[in-house]
Amino acid sequence: MTEAFERSGRISAARVTSAWYVLCQSSELGRRPLQRTLYGWPLVLFRDGEGRAVTLLDRCPHRNVPLSGGRVVEGALECPYHGWRFAAEGRCTHVPGLLQTRGGGRDAPSHATVEQDGFVWVWGQAGAVPDQPPPAVPRFGAGYSEVRRSVDFPGTLHATAENALDVPHTAFLHRGLFRGAGTRNTIEARITRDATSTTAHYLGEPRPDGLVARLLSPSGGEVEHFDRFELPGVAIVDYRLGSENHFRVTTYLTPLTETTTRAFAVLAFRLRVPHALVLPFLAPIAMRIFRQDAEILAQQTAWVERFGGEQFVSTEIDILGAQIWRLLERAAAGRLVADAEPWERRVQLHV
Ligand code: FES
Ligand SMILES: [Fe+2]
Repeated sequence: MTEAFERSGRISAARVTSAWYVLCQSSELGRRPLQRTLYGWPLVLFRDGEGRAVTLLDRCPHRNVPLSGGRVVEGALECPYHGWRFAAEGRCTHVPGLLQTRGGGRDAPSHATVEQDGFVWVWGQAGAVPDQPPPAVPRFGAGYSEVRRSVDFPGTLHATAENALDVPHTAFLHRGLFRGAGTRNTIEARITRDATSTTAHYLGEPRPDGLVARLLSPSGGEVEHFDRFELPGVAIVDYRLGSENHFRVTTYLTPLTETTTRAFAVLAFRLRVPHALVLPFLAPIAMRIFRQDAEILAQQTAWVERFGGEQFVSTEIDILGAQIWRLLERAAAGRLVADAEPWERRVQLHV
């Protein structure tokens, strides 16, 4: 690694607003307005007359009360204080008691919103026209099962993404669940990056000894594994064990505040053993892993704050942390640049 990764008096919290974030699952947005935050900014979601999801700044332009305390009437969001109504794009459509309808400046700031793949995606900047559609949730087709979970992590988007893609802690914090049950192996990681993503491919890993790995592939075999981060907060963990077992966790990270990150995880898998047999074990183990990660991130965040900022010391097996920060920092500054030459590093680690 060439990039320095030490800073003090601050935390790695970049604000990337020209991007799509998952604000909720489609099923969470019903007839009532829903309050959510993005980078600490209060937003309100509701469905208009045609059932389309709408996202507005959660502040009534009139006297600034939260609109999320109101109700949806005839496809418009009605403020609980004086009953102003706001439709799609935040257009103020009704002011009770006002005879003449002229006058501007009454609209609420709105965010582009798209419902896709069971998620409600919101563009991070109010009043902006997105330059791309939200990312598609991967579909693997026949033979695959999918499980979705959302979990809140008390960490910055950077710390949460690093945690999701960090291999060395799996043998320690999650000891026995995936790795760290018995013998360790020396494996090689090949790290690549482009203007918007970075990937670590792990080569030559025998099937780990932990519980999950045994469950997925009782007969052993080789592991093919990669971890990838895509801007602004997509963390992908992909394992193939033997020829028939494939396990992919795609996590969409949404910064609710600077130090709280909501993870919408999509677990897709295809296994040789019947799925109905492993599902009762797999889901609780995944939740246990998430809980262990959430607890350690809470401690990390509290301690970074307690000591007035990050003072991280890294080695070359902290494979993606510095790369993720480089991407976030550049995206926040609006200057994404690809390397002129293909970029690649190789690192050996013992896991
Ligand atoms: S504060 Fe919302 S209508 Fe008056
Ligand atoms: Fe973890």
